[in-house]
Amino acid sequence: MEKSNGLQVILFPLPLQGCINPMIQLAKILHSRDGLSDTETRSHDINLMLTILNEKCESPFRDCLTKLLQSPDSETERKKQMISCLIHDSEWIFTEPLAKSLNLPRLVLNATKASFFRGHFALPQLRRERYLPLQDSEQEDPVRQFPPLRKKDVYRLLDEESEVLDAYLNRIYDTTKSSSGLIFMSCEELDQDSLTQDTSRFSNPNETCIPWLDKQEDRSVIYVSFGSLVTISESELLEIAWGLSNSDQPFLWVVRVGMVNGIKWIEVIPEEVMERLNKNGKIVKWAPQQEVLKHQAIGGYLTHNGWNSTVESVCEGVPMICLPFIWDQFLNARFVCDIWRVGLHLENRIERNEIERMIRILFLEAEGEAIRDRIELLKEKVGRSVKQNGSAYQCLEILVDHISSF
Ligand code: UDX
Repeated sequence: MEKSNGLQVILFPLPLQGCINPMIQLAKILHSRDGLSDTETRSHDINLMLTILNEKCESPFRDCLTKLLQSPDSETERKKQMISCLIHDSEWIFTEPLAKSLNLPRLVLNATKASFFRGHFALPQLRRERYLPLQDSEQEDPVRQFPPLRKKDVYRLLDEESEVLDAYLNRIYDTTKSSSGLIFMSCEELDQDSLTQDTSRFSNPNETCIPWLDKQEDRSVIYVSFGSLVTISESELLEIAWGLSNSDQPFLWVVRVGMVNGIKWIEVIPEEVMERLNKNGKIVKWAPQQEVLKHQAIGGYLTHNGWNSTVESVCEGVPMICLPFIWDQFLNARFVCDIWRVGLHLENRIERNEIERMIRILFLEAEGEAIRDRIELLKEKVGRSVKQNGSAYQCLEILVDHISSF
């Protein structure tokens, strides 16, 4: 990313939608600041996949960075090409020795909620302490090391992780600790305790979703999407299909190609169910999510609670039905339902009756109305944080000053 004043910052996201989006947002914000400071006017196995990415990217990234940093001949050229720092995702653990050898300051961008980032380093310890097996009576107990998760959430997290990941987590911790700073996509209003497109190949989503939403009544549509990574089983797909169909609520449902294990897309949904679904809703392979959540027709979001999606929903004041599947999603869902109280938790019951019941509560009952009121307030608070002198705004000022100081 190059600024008009010649100062450059390298941004290096993981090639995952949930990581690319916040990095692009950060790039836009940095790029929009004219002059980085007043004085400086010149300046299916995610773990395996991450390991492979780190191994494969190190060498080409080193070559590219070295080339970029090679001293140009003239002073003017040098100023034009001045690179002040590297901003990378926390999972890029090879960057520490590389940046050090090139004498390049590093900042770490984390795509999860700040409290998850802080808490998840306790996972190796929890595993060592043999947290498992879990008795029925302790399911709802809070986990001191990882609030506000409950033991049953951590049980699922630990179940998902392996010792290989523990070692990887330690490397992330060290890589972050030795960096020049950590950037979160959050604000005090959402993270007070911790902050002291796979684009569809088949259609242009703008052409399909938005005009359809334009025809729906205000706040009538339930949006359903599980981000860019989650996969579900065939039977879960069918339960969601029946739940949506039985709820009689209009819906917009994103099913990515390959999201359902073992099948191509949605071909297993029986003809009779498809007919009912087509009457009341729309199934797409990808949607322009932020635009969708902003649309006046949207009244709720059945979500996996990836952090980007959770923040986007809060920012647009869309109440959630939470169905977390992996990793930080369990914690985000607890915040949405138990702390902010702006959503309902499905508690992993991917059953047609339960999905129908939740949708009805959210759209038709007093409890849903109360949730809607609370998320409106949270939306306003978060909205204020990005305005001048708001908490997120001030943090960005500090970040810009910090980058300018390198
Ligand atoms: C992953 C992890 O799953 C998540 O838990 C972690 O917090 C970040 O990394 P992902 O699964 O992709 O992210 O979820 P999320 O963080 O919600 O990001 C998805 C992004 O893709 C959002 O910005 C969303 O707006 C966008 N999206 C998703 C679309 O634009 N269209 C879609 O149809 C679906």
